Order: sequence, then structure tokens, then C-alpha cells
Amino acid sequence: LINQTLESLVRDEAARQWAFPVAAERVYLGHAGVTALPRVASEALTAFAHAAARDNQESPAVWDQVEQARNAGAALVGGDADEIALLGPTALGLSLVANGLPWKAGDEVVFYRDDYPANVYPWRHLETLGVQAVALVPEWPGDITWPFLERHLTAKTRLVALASCHFLSGFRLDLDEIGRNLHERGILFCVDGIQTLGAFPLSVEHIDFVSADSHKWMLGPAGAGIVYVKREHHDFLRPTLLGSWNVVSPEFVAQERIAYYEGARRYEPGILNLPGIVAMEASLRLLLDVGIENVAQRILTLRGLLVEGLRPLGYRLYGPWEERDVDIARHASGIVTVTHPEKDLKALFDRLAANGVVASLRQDRSGQPLLRLAPHFYNTEAELERVLALLRA
Ligand SMILES: Cc1ncc(COP(=O)(O)O)c(C=O)c1O
Repeated sequence: LINQTLESLVRDEAARQWAFPVAAERVYLGHAGVTALPRVASEALTAFAHAAARDNQESPAVWDQVEQARNAGAALVGGDADEIALLGPTALGLSLVANGLPWKAGDEVVFYRDDYPANVYPWRHLETLGVQAVALVPEWPGDITWPFLERHLTAKTRLVALASCHFLSGFRLDLDEIGRNLHERGILFCVDGIQTLGAFPLSVEHIDFVSADSHKWMLGPAGAGIVYVKREHHDFLRPTLLGSWNVVSPEFVAQERIAYYEGARRYEPGILNLPGIVAMEASLRLLLDVGIENVAQRILTLRGLLVEGLRPLGYRLYGPWEERDVDIARHASGIVTVTHPEKDLKALFDRLAANGVVASLRQDRSGQPLLRLAPHFYNTEAELERVLALLRA
């Protein structure tokens, strides 16, 4: 499987269904929620479980897979392995950043009011330290661009915390542009990467911190993830979760002095989520073998097909898409979320489910129902045709 190209995975239906067992049962468009596992990941989990039933769960092979997972995580973000902590969920990494920085009363942190809660509460909570939490409220959901963000920065802004892509509108941020500008002003940039990592390339050149669990676009299990911390911040970002694994503890003897191991491992307090990491490693290897740029192009193609099929049916894209001229190549993602002026989205969601299509039903702050479709690279044009036919009714 590993050497199969994207082309053969997508065009050879038997190979596709073998590699993605869910494809034999459903049209799976739930990748912005919780992914189904590809065969490589479920087999890695099974192999781990079988070996773990016969001996200690740690084996040299498992530790080798953990090392490979760190390398794969580094490749995914364009950083180095010693800048990757193997931690999930996303909220954990974001909280480690929020709680580990040396805040002073009066500092400002900027975040998006309607981001997924995991990327809101860690920042709002800093108000208990006297930090001013500045909540962005863009005109259209998810529509965060540099010119908009810039208006909310002051001389006191210490950090900007944004998701790489909004979980409802699917608006993907230009992280390079935002990060470059923030760094020119000496402002730290923390990215919740879960809605794009695995689906779109990322460069951490202008990003200080990234957190992403693997259970969406990385095609991994829930509760295994990666946290990127730029090397130059390892002394500056204080570990706030401590244990035997990150504090140097020879022979498991607790020391008087607290000294951390080198590298981002200093943010991993205890034994790692070995089964999760082993499965995540298999999924990341699959994605890296296909090539993230290929994955991204394929997702954008499928997104385009969905959008072209949905608009004539009266569906409206949720976000800035219908409101202003958005550069699609730059801002589109794998998330297509729609509303409809007349149709009952809950009934449509149920109808999709009854026909083996997995979508997500959400609502926004105003209570407006939203239907979210999130294809990954292995979904096919034929599957989307089926979905469109069901949504036509
Ligand atoms: C932007 C964003 N961040 C984080 C998460 C998940 O957070 P966690 O991994 O902490 O459960 C989601 C899931 O919907 C999300 O959309």
C-alpha cells in the first residue's frame, strides 16, 4: 500500500476500499469531525495490541515507531524532530502554550471569538492573570486576513492564537502572510493546525507554536497528536506539566532539582500514548507518501466539485464565500459548509445518513443550522455525485 500512488488509490476502487475500509461501507465526509482510520492505522493498532498482550507494551520496535512519528510530525510542519512533542488532544498543546508563557498584567492576546472552543478557552482563561483577551469578530465567519487582524494589534499584543482554518466556514488562513507580519512586529504566533494538518502543506518558518490532534485530516486516532514548539522557545516556554518523562530523573529517583530534557520532549510529562502514536505514525506515513501537496490539490478539486454542484441547488456557502471575492486557491479547504433558505438541513442530514453518507450537522452562535461536508483525498467524484443527488431532493 505504502508505495501506491495517489492515482491508483483514487482510480482503482478495489485498492481504495482496501486502503480505506470505510469507503466500502459509506461515503465518508466527516473528516472535519473525527476521521475513520485507514487500514494502515488500524493494522498498526492491532499489531500493537497483539504484541502488548504478550509482553510489556514498550518494545524497541514501538520506540522506533515513536521516533518515526516525531520525524513524520516534523516533516508535516516543516520543522525538526526535536521541536515536536507527541501530545494530543489539540487543547492540551494550546493550553501548554497559554499556561507556559511569562505573561504580565496588561499583555494582550488575540484570538477568534467563534473559533472551536479548544482554541478559545486557553486564551480567555489568561484574563485571570490580568491579560487582556482580545476576541476577533470578523464580518463573515472565519474571514480572518492580515489587514483585518492588523487592526486589532497594539503595542501590548504578545501573542496571536488562530486556527489554520475555521471549522465551520472552512476559510483557510494565509499563515505565511500573517506569521511574517506578526514576527516583524515581535508578536508570537500560535496555530491550532487540526483543520489543515495532513491536508495542506504548512511551513513553521513564521509560526512559533502549533498543536493538532491526529483525529481529523491526519487520519489518525483520537488523542494522539503533535505539538510543535520552535527550538528558540524551549527555555522561554516553561513546561507546566511535569513528570518522570520530561524532568531528568535518573533511575526513576525523584531529584531535588528540576532539569528538563532537551527538545520538545520537555513538554511530555509522562508515558506517551503509545497505541495512538503508533497508529498516527502509520497514517502520517501514508499521507507523506502520497505527498501533502498532492493531497491538497485533490481536496481542492473535490471541494470545487461540491461547490459547483451545490450552488445551483440553492445552497449557500457559509462564510465569506458568497459575500466577497475570495481567492479560492489561497483560502479554500476541505470544508464545505452550507445553509439553505428553504430546506430542512436536519432532515437532509438524516437522509444522507440513511443512505450511508457521513456528514456533520452543526450550528453557529445564532443557532443557524449548518450542514458540513468534508472530503479527504481518497473520496471520489462518483461519491460526491451520489451526495449531490441526495441533496437535490
Ligand atoms: C479548530 C479546532 N481545534 C481543535 C479541535 C479539536 O480539539 P481537541 O483535539 O482538543 O479535542 C477541533 C475539532 O473540531 C477544531 O475544529
